[in-house]
Amino acid sequence: MPLIEWKEEFSVGNEELDRQHRKWLEFIERLHQVDDADCHDRIVHDILDEMEIYSRYHFWSEERMLEQAGYEDLENHRREHDAMKGRIAAQMNAFRSDTDFDHSRVAEMLWHWLIEHILQSDHRYTAALEDVTAVRD
Ligand SMILES: [Fe+2]
Ligand SMILES: [Fe+2]
Repeated sequence: MPLIEWKEEFSVGNEELDRQHRKWLEFIERLHQVDDADCHDRIVHDILDEMEIYSRYHFWSEERMLEQAGYEDLENHRREHDAMKGRIAAQMNAFRSDTDFDHSRVAEMLWHWLIEHILQSDHRYTAALEDVTAVRD
């Protein structure tokens, strides 16, 4: 059973951002599914590395859209993204230095951080992005 099942309630009402969230969850799923025997293998490093790059792209992309929408809480939102960047970087460092690194525990942690952020923070901008789409239509 996959760790992550995409649910409609995760949607932020924007197709592109939903697609990006789903892609990020796929990286986490891949990390979760690595064989325990390969836990210290290059494969884990590569997934973490790609996921880190993708998360930066997602944050940049989301912040840009929110900026264009004139989202009033953007600064706080950016700060949350920065905190998450720090947490992800810390997991990369843990992988590089810690022989006890547990890929499935880290995947579960990342899953919780991401879903919590989507449900509690990303969902707050839904109306602001809807307004922009409505104006364009
Ligand atoms: Fe966000
Ligand atoms: Fe997001």
